[in-house]
Amino acid sequence: MNLKLKVWRQSGASDKGKMVDYALSDISPDSSFLEMIDVLNMQLVEKGEEPVAFDHDCREGICGMCSMYINGQPHGPGDRVTTCQLHMRSFKDGDTITIEPWRASAFPVIKDLVVDRGAFDRIIQAGGYVSVNTSGNTQDANSIPIPKADADAAFDAATCIGCGACVAACKNASAMLFVSAKVSQLDLLPQGKVESKQRVLNMVAQMDKEGFGNCTNTGACEAECPKGISLENIARMNRLYLASEISAK
Ligand code: SF4
Ligand code: FES
Repeated sequence: MNLKLKVWRQSGASDKGKMVDYALSDISPDSSFLEMIDVLNMQLVEKGEEPVAFDHDCREGICGMCSMYINGQPHGPGDRVTTCQLHMRSFKDGDTITIEPWRASAFPVIKDLVVDRGAFDRIIQAGGYVSVNTSGNTQDANSIPIPKADADAAFDAATCIGCGACVAACKNASAMLFVSAKVSQLDLLPQGKVESKQRVLNMVAQMDKEGFGNCTNTGACEAECPKGISLENIARMNRLYLASEISAK
């Protein structure tokens, strides 16, 4: 395949950044999108130019690192795939492909396509965990009966990989889908219920502090989420937040 690329280049956080055009030839339709960028980078290095910085790790849809906008869509075309799971056969020979970083003030650009998603880490640090009693008397989790429907819903919420596509897709740059998935995966299980109220209050407070926008129910987050995280999680978190706020007064 022969392709034209328009890639966002930004040397650092204080650089204004701009789109730069590149031409690539002989790209296999079976290569992944990230392998295509690897080829571009090899060619740039051979020419003595700076390669395009982009995040990646697992390259199998697990880590959530490969966050980028492709032709105006988070993670590009394709349903429920991350950028690393996207293959070049999803494009046509001769296509022009535009590649940009996430655009949200809470995710500042570090370099080229790499953004700082530390805000997500700080939200998790605010309460996205279960405090474990390490006294030696901890009950085996498997010995606690959990209704199948709750276990399934908790598992579905836990598939969130923290990629940030929900924020990037949202016109308000809201992080509600991510935060609600992280709240739900714990709140639905008896082990997580104990700290449920304080957790949701702390995580939402941190979310607001990080500068994410409000949810206006457009559903763009759910539509672009590579893991199909449901809006039901947002409804669950809103109910829990309200109840927790009232009982805290
Ligand atoms: S909710 Fe979906 S889009 Fe948002 S961070 Fe989690 S996996 Fe990514
Ligand atoms: S590189 Fe890990 S999800 Fe894409």
